[in-house]
Amino acid sequence: MNQAPKMLIAGNWKMNGAGNELSELNAIASGVTGNGYDALICTPATLIERAAKTVEGSALNIGGQDCHAAANGAHTGDISAGMLKDAGANFVILGHSERRADHHEDDALIAAKAVAAANSGLNAIICVGETKDEREAGNAAQVVESQLAGSIPVDIEVSKLVIAYEPVWAIGTGLVASPDDIAQMHAHIRGLLNARFGAAGEGVSILYGGSMKPGNAADILTLDNVNGGLIGGASLKSDDFLAICGSVPA
Ligand code: PGA
Repeated sequence: MNQAPKMLIAGNWKMNGAGNELSELNAIASGVTGNGYDALICTPATLIERAAKTVEGSALNIGGQDCHAAANGAHTGDISAGMLKDAGANFVILGHSERRADHHEDDALIAAKAVAAANSGLNAIICVGETKDEREAGNAAQVVESQLAGSIPVDIEVSKLVIAYEPVWAIGTGLVASPDDIAQMHAHIRGLLNARFGAAGEGVSILYGGSMKPGNAADILTLDNVNGGLIGGASLKSDDFLAICGSVPA
C-alpha cells in the first residue's frame, strides 16, 4: 500500500464568512476541476450546511476548522466531529496554531480530537509548526517532531490523515518559509511518518501553509514532499484560490 500522496488544496476561512459569501464559494466550486488534486474549503461551522448544499455536485469538499474530542454531552458552545459530518463536512482542521495559542490546545487534546474525527469518518488535517523564536534557536525540526509524535493518535487510520506544516511566523504575515526550509522540513516530516507507519507513511499528504498566494504557489507546490497547501487569506477570494489550484503541477 505504497500509494503516492494526493495533492490537496485546502482553504481555511477562519472566522470569516457569512451567508453573503456563499457566492464566492459558488465561484470556487464552479472553477475547481479536481484534476490531479482535491480541493477543500473549511468554512466557519455556521456555514457548513449551506456551503455543502452550495457546492453539491462539484469537486469541492467542505470541512470544519475544529471539533470537540467527545461525541456529545455537556460542552456548551462546542461542536462534535459527528455534527460536522452531519452538516456536510468530510474534513476537519485540528491543532491549528491559532487554536493552540487562543485556546491552549496541547498535543494530547489534538490527538483526542483526531480520534473523534476518525470515529465520525472525517479526514483530519493535523497542523504543526514552529514559532519564530523556536526557528531562530535552531529548534524547528525538533518542535515539529514532538508535535507530530504527540498529536497523531496511536490508532489513526493513515488513509484519513493529512499533515499541514505551518510555520507560525509565516501565517497571515506575508512572510513565507524559503523553498529550502520548506523542502527540508517536509522531508523531515516524511521521514517521521515513514518511521511510524512504514510504507503507508508515503501516502500521507503533507501540506504547506503560511502566506501561500497565487504568486508563490507554483514554487512551493513543486517542491519534493509538498502535497498541497493550507491557505488562509488567499482562500477568501475565488480568483486567488483558483489561481493556486491552477498552480498544482500536472
Ligand atoms: P495564511 O493562513 O494563508 O493567511 O497565512 C494560513 C493558515 O493559517 O492556515
